[in-house]
Amino acid sequence: MEYVKVGKTADLVEKKVMKVAVKGKDILISNIKGEYFAIDNKCNHMGGSLVEGNIEGNKVICPKHGSVFDLKTGKVEEKGKLFFLKVKVKDQRKYPVKIEGNDIYIKVE
Ligand code: FES
Repeated sequence: MEYVKVGKTADLVEKKVMKVAVKGKDILISNIKGEYFAIDNKCNHMGGSLVEGNIEGNKVICPKHGSVFDLKTGKVEEKGKLFFLKVKVKDQRKYPVKIEGNDIYIKVE
């Protein structure tokens, strides 16, 4: 499967995260201190849009129930809560990223 160009590094300098659509998937691209990462944007719990969540360092907090994911790996750092129960949430899928010149490419299979 080929890498697909999704944007320019300049698009992420200030914002740190952006959402792109590739092959029917919404993917969250992040810039963590000059390194780029890609994970599913849609939270696997109940579809919260992570691009709308708060960013703390290299973590993003789901805006729906507060699960915390590592932007570099997609791993769950902390399960959010629905009422007083911890939600059932898994790691977010991660995608390979490469930079060529000023362009960001990701590989989605
Ligand atoms: S939708 Fe993300 S934690 Fe519930």
